[in-house]
Amino acid sequence: MSAQKWLFVKNFIKHPVTVSSIIPSSRFLMNRVLNRIDWERARTIIEFGPGVGNFTKEILKRMRPDARLGVIELNHDFVKLLSAIGDRRLHVAHQSVEGVEDVMRQMGCSQVDYVISGIPFSVLPEPVREKVVQSTHSVLSADGSFMVYQFSRAVLPHLEKVFRKVEEEFEPLNVLPARLFYCAK
Ligand SMILES: C[S@@+](CC[C@H](N)C(=O)[O-])C[C@H]1O[C@@H](n2cnc3c(N)ncnc32)[C@H](O)[C@@H]1O
Repeated sequence: MSAQKWLFVKNFIKHPVTVSSIIPSSRFLMNRVLNRIDWERARTIIEFGPGVGNFTKEILKRMRPDARLGVIELNHDFVKLLSAIGDRRLHVAHQSVEGVEDVMRQMGCSQVDYVISGIPFSVLPEPVREKVVQSTHSVLSADGSFMVYQFSRAVLPHLEKVFRKVEEEFEPLNVLPARLFYCAK
């Protein structure tokens, strides 16, 4: 097992509720999400709960040289690893995703084209979950997309309450199989 996967497993053992998955997402899940992004159009991207940075590194590979990526992560070990990526387009915020609007301000951005979320919504207290969905809606550009992957459909009614349209997909090749939701304003 790679050092990064091992760090992920160790943190799952220490913080099972917030990390919520025993291993990082599969390449199948990652490609399913990232293949939907219009990379030519994407100038600002935010990632919620990047973990050890498997999505983060692939986003940086695919993203325009003049685009910005903000990642918001609670876990100290993961933040250390993410900060070591050392790409000038990357802004690492060590805080909870409730503060997405503050992170946008730190980055000097008013709107975001894509928000990709791997955080476990079902374990967030109700008011926090509501705030995260509302704040994400308010920072997204008119044609932006909030892309959410989860192990259950429990978050769907919360997304549907705020977003005009939510499209669903399913990725079986992941531990655990994942539900995907693409939300438009
Ligand atoms: C299921 S893991 C996903 C990791 C990675 N995105 C992947 O797909 O492999 C969930 C991640 O969200 C982080 N997280 C959970 N709650 C969070 C919150 N409120 N704010 C920021 N990060 C959070 C965890 O520390 C963990 O890194």
